[in-house]
Amino acid sequence: MKEGKFITLGIETSCDETSVALVADGREVLSNVISSQIEVHKVFGGVVPEIASRHHLNNMSSVYKSAMETAGVSLRDVDLIGVTCGPGLVGALLIGLATAKAFAYAAKKPLVGVHHIQGHICANYIEHKELEPPFLALVVSGGHTHLVYVKDYNEHVVLGRTRDDAAGEAFDKVARVLELGYPGGPKIDQAAKEGDPHSVEFKRVMLEKDSLDFSFSGIKTGVLNYLNSQKQKGEEIYVPDVAASFQMAVVDVLVAKAMMAAARTGEDKLVLAGGVAANSLLRTMLAEACEKAGIALYCPSPLLCTDNAAMIGCAAHYKYAAGLTDDMTLDAYPSLVL
Ligand code: KG4
Ligand code: ZN
Repeated sequence: MKEGKFITLGIETSCDETSVALVADGREVLSNVISSQIEVHKVFGGVVPEIASRHHLNNMSSVYKSAMETAGVSLRDVDLIGVTCGPGLVGALLIGLATAKAFAYAAKKPLVGVHHIQGHICANYIEHKELEPPFLALVVSGGHTHLVYVKDYNEHVVLGRTRDDAAGEAFDKVARVLELGYPGGPKIDQAAKEGDPHSVEFKRVMLEKDSLDFSFSGIKTGVLNYLNSQKQKGEEIYVPDVAASFQMAVVDVLVAKAMMAAARTGEDKLVLAGGVAANSLLRTMLAEACEKAGIALYCPSPLLCTDNAAMIGCAAHYKYAAGLTDDMTLDAYPSLVL
């Protein structure tokens, strides 16, 4: 069922999702199979790298088979293989890379290594078929918080990034403190629906005037200090209020910085990406701010926000179209910069 389309096989294993996808002509998803290890890591309260690698190895062949079957293609139909090569957990990345290189070598297919953040941004090309660069992107995930000016498909200018914790990391750490479970983002999002976001005033860290960088490491301490002081005073702690107030503080900063970046660049298109892009308050508040400022906002559907291989296949397609390919020396780069 190739029908003259250019088919990319995408592979993603940078953290705790084993995912294989088939994407036609860059933006049409034929299959996007995701095997999440959340249940395995939940008991540890976070991702254990060694366990993640082992599970990627165990899951890869069934995820691959399922993706090929769902798409109704064989390896012969595949025109390109794209794989996340960084940043991420090195052992986890290596499983995806070894798989991609083996297929590329055996079936004589071109190979493209993809930066994970570029993949997250590309999720929006799948969701919004009309979207073209240039635009501004706010990438918020468990490992990254970046404001990026996307000049072209493969041209990125980083305007700001977190200096310490990523936004998703802050959600996960605060959820642990509040004993809400793992992963923290969705749990806080849910708990916050029952709480008052103005009940506790957590500090909004904006850094230097005009800075587009972020800092989220202090907010966990802020939440801990609040909990301790309430306990010392013998006052009751209502978890949904704390969750809602924390979430509001993080979202306030993200929205303010995104709007600052839009004003500075004069861009009238903003793309949201990464796992935290699934956050309901962030989506609502960003939509309101964008409407006020006359900016068109693009968000992926929740499934395309978190780690998946379709976004990697899409990114690989556009890299290949620009003549950017890799060879068998492609390696895993845990701290790869955009
Ligand atoms: O993009 P992703 O799947 O993995 C990384 O590249 O890091 O993002 C995972 C992160 C986790 O920190 C998770 O707590 C967060 O995204 N997340 C959310 C929500 N859903 C996932 N954070 C806030 N609200 C959500 N609804
Ligand atoms: Zn990610």
